[in-house]
Amino acid sequence: MRHIRQQSTRRSALLGRGAVVATVPVAVAALLATAGPAAAGTTGASGAGDPYFKLAGNGGYHVSHYGLTLAYDTASRHLDGTAVLTARATESLTRFDLDFEGLKVTGLTVDQVKADFSRSGQELVVTPRHALRKGQEFRVTVTYSGTPGPVTDPDGSLDGWIPTDDGAFVAGEPQGAMTWFPANNHPRDKASYDFTITVPENRTAVANGVYLGKRTAHGKTTYRWRQSEPMAAYLATATVGKFKVEQYTTRDGIKVYNAVDPREATDTARVLKKLPSVLEWESKVFGPYPFRAAGAIVDHAPDVGYALETQTRPVYDSAPSTSTLVHESAHQWFGDSVSLTSWKDIWLNEGFATYAEWLYSEQHGGDSAQETFDDLYSRGASDDLWDFPPADPGSGANIFDTPVYARGAMALHELRTAVGDPTFYRILRAWVTEHRAGHGTTAQFESLAERESGKNLDKLFQTWLYSEGKPNKP
Ligand code: TRP
Ligand code: ZN
Repeated sequence: MRHIRQQSTRRSALLGRGAVVATVPVAVAALLATAGPAAAGTTGASGAGDPYFKLAGNGGYHVSHYGLTLAYDTASRHLDGTAVLTARATESLTRFDLDFEGLKVTGLTVDQVKADFSRSGQELVVTPRHALRKGQEFRVTVTYSGTPGPVTDPDGSLDGWIPTDDGAFVAGEPQGAMTWFPANNHPRDKASYDFTITVPENRTAVANGVYLGKRTAHGKTTYRWRQSEPMAAYLATATVGKFKVEQYTTRDGIKVYNAVDPREATDTARVLKKLPSVLEWESKVFGPYPFRAAGAIVDHAPDVGYALETQTRPVYDSAPSTSTLVHESAHQWFGDSVSLTSWKDIWLNEGFATYAEWLYSEQHGGDSAQETFDDLYSRGASDDLWDFPPADPGSGANIFDTPVYARGAMALHELRTAVGDPTFYRILRAWVTEHRAGHGTTAQFESLAERESGKNLDKLFQTWLYSEGKPNKP
């Protein structure tokens, strides 16, 4: 899908520059650009087709690997970066976009050859010297620098590179990855990652996946991390701060690396020691933990106001509660391993992670899920819980609102009640098994639930996922 909105501004920048347009009259070039695949190739779409975030992600290629080399000076807040993207063209391309906002691009090559580029909002528009063939693997190297900062989301929250008093809290949902590395910034395109991050030697840089080690020289320490399983860009982190580090391996062989801001250490300790048992419990309920590494980054970032399920290693803005630990851990299955194809489906992340909290409570001496459901259901018809249906939030400004979390979890509870416990748990496990390291849509979840239960569940999903207002008494 191409997005006309960007198209007109972008075409004028292109004219007279691309391989096609340089050799044919302007009018013909414009015709070729709109007529679809021309001999020399097309220009990749400026968005992945998301209805809420029209410029998120890009068309025409998939990224398989990001190699990110960063150096952050916590005193000046200056970042130097090099991103090496390994990608494959899904159409022949004369031009393609990356998402990148804010920092200055100081160099750009495609397969080691200097490429033309221009900036337009969050789009970094790349015109390689030679057009890319459909199916061709290529490597994009972007060098960049500047003072990174966050983006403001449609709901007013900040995400991306958020400076703190001792480093930076780095969390990219839904948009902020593009504030610190050029990316195909939509969960539809997942890739593996390598991180090499240099910070002052009294700081620690924590990213996703397995910790590969550190090296100190001339007052700076370089940390290396590897995220081998595919990851959406919004789940990447490179959080920097003064941290106490703890490392161990669980009984299941998962490598744990925890980094805790000393100011949060006391409150964190009694919760974080439950991480292995939470992951074990979730593995029993949802199926095997999907990654080889785990852990937590507990920062002291009072201005952030949320935690994020950064892959393998959630980042918390302060000491988490047990239910938040359970929630972010559940996202490793729901959201991280099984990812969205559209932000509209956000309840597949948040409704499931919230329902995990209810199940954990039920099985650990707290309220039963039914009690939690009843409590919510007792809220009046004008409560914000009923503002919109969870599977149709209406805009990117609503994706982290109560209906997505709580009514999304209520929908799962209604499903459980309709199909019975054995079938319900079988549905959850089939979902994470069949979509592991990939993607899932609401429609796919519905048909999987019908397949596993042998029931027609149209009415249930219609009522709980798609209908406006408070549903009638179940
Ligand atoms: N996905 C996070 C969670 O529920 C919450 C979150 C991420 C968030 N980014 C946000 C909430 C921006 C509000 C605004 O675990
Ligand atoms: Zn969540």
